[in-house]
Amino acid sequence: MQITLDSKPFSTLEADALVTYVFDESDPVQGRVAELDKLAGGLIARLSKSGEVTGKNLELTLVHAPAGLKTARLLLVGTGKREQFNPGTLRKVAGAALRYLKTRSVHKVAFLLREGDLNENTAQAVVEGVVAADFETDKWKTDKKNDKFIETFTITGFGDAEKTLLEKGVARGRTIGESVNFARDLVNEPSNKLTPTVLAAKAEAMAKQAGLAVEILDEKKIADLKMGALLTVAQGGPEPPRVIVVTYTPANVKPGAPVVGLIGKAVTFDTGGISIKPADGMEKMKYDMAGGATMLGVMRALAVLKPNVKVICVVPATENMPGGTAQKPGDIQTAMSGKTIEVLNTDAEGRLILADGVHYVKQLGATHLVDAATLTGAIVVALANINVGVFGSDQAWTDKLLASAKAAGEKMWQMPMDDEYREFIKGSFADIQNIGSGKGGGSITGAWFIREFAGDSPWIHLDIAGTAWNDDAKAWLAKGPTGIALRTLVQLITSL
Ligand code: BES
Ligand code: ZN
Ligand code: ZN
Repeated sequence: MQITLDSKPFSTLEADALVTYVFDESDPVQGRVAELDKLAGGLIARLSKSGEVTGKNLELTLVHAPAGLKTARLLLVGTGKREQFNPGTLRKVAGAALRYLKTRSVHKVAFLLREGDLNENTAQAVVEGVVAADFETDKWKTDKKNDKFIETFTITGFGDAEKTLLEKGVARGRTIGESVNFARDLVNEPSNKLTPTVLAAKAEAMAKQAGLAVEILDEKKIADLKMGALLTVAQGGPEPPRVIVVTYTPANVKPGAPVVGLIGKAVTFDTGGISIKPADGMEKMKYDMAGGATMLGVMRALAVLKPNVKVICVVPATENMPGGTAQKPGDIQTAMSGKTIEVLNTDAEGRLILADGVHYVKQLGATHLVDAATLTGAIVVALANINVGVFGSDQAWTDKLLASAKAAGEKMWQMPMDDEYREFIKGSFADIQNIGSGKGGGSITGAWFIREFAGDSPWIHLDIAGTAWNDDAKAWLAKGPTGIALRTLVQLITSL
């Protein structure tokens, strides 16, 4: 899909479809939409009066051969209430329009920005939305229909004065959108196609192409470093673990400036190990590496956006298998930090591999940490597939992340981290145990476990178990991986 900008009057633009968006308010025919209505001889006002166009969120109204326009179709997308309008809404609006038109074999789409929206942020949101919407999870289907594709997507409705600004937004949106799709493609791969070794090779190729420093630690190096928590998760199956280290170093970084450490859980398949999961729905556990994929996607975007902050990304990658050599409930393992861990449930493996990842990224010099992980079923109970669970040890650092989530239009919700919860993971026979002692709060005890390894460094944990995967296709996104949290993290790092 080619994305372009065209500043000529939108009424003279030739395309298969012109798209714009309509707010849900007492009179939805205002501003740009009123202009369109005038060209089309009052058509939109009539549709509004009859109740067909209301501006309700993601309502789609397609008009063929609209009068006064050179485009073959006009698509009006409901945007919801003006007060709730944000980059997230615009992304969905643009994405829903693209997917709707794509299934109808439309190839050339023009998108009319509304009055007041002629800025970098809105152009970015529109482009992020369409790039993500254009991604299909049909990679392994052999009977693809190849007449369903969008050839060009043109932003219109602006003058020469706004062009440079919009161009910047388009470039940034494309970088972020493509990085989101890079992460989604990794998440969508089944575990037989994406082992820890394959993930590491893909990360290495990405990093080299992007001009990022990369190091892959193999099982021998992992053992030399005494990453006992990661190694003992990996011992349950034949696939060796990997630790992927990708580093972005800006041209001139101030001495003493914060160094961001990103840690992503990459369990390429989680059977649960000896504490084996039920068969029903287990196939979804191929997405248990979404945290790692997100962090690699963030690095890919940073290489292009070039913020003035050093970022070190550590992705521990392994399978969690129940083989004859697997660790067993009650086993005591020694993490890289030297802390001993009682593994009461082998299915709580994400926190184990993150323990070593967090310790290692600090050793490499990171001062401010963020981890992302499909960590707990408990966060799905608490927040469903709507909000990312946010856990933090330092409110100033956490506030920055929450502000970035808001700016990026990703829903995130801060969870409590009272000291009392820490008691739940006190070990009986070792320093700590990897699950809480039966008192609920499963996502919080999971977070506390990781925090034990972050020490005094400001640290944030994002539990994306509920939000990294869409069980159903959305109007704006294919079924499957969502790429959640990537935009927020890019926003956080580029705004530091
Ligand atoms: N990968 C799972 C968490 C998960 C659940 C991800 C649902 C996506 C959807 C994780 O490793 C796990 O199994 N966690 C256990 C922890 C429990 C044993 C304390 C869980 O949530 O059940
Ligand atoms: Zn598990
Ligand atoms: Zn897991």
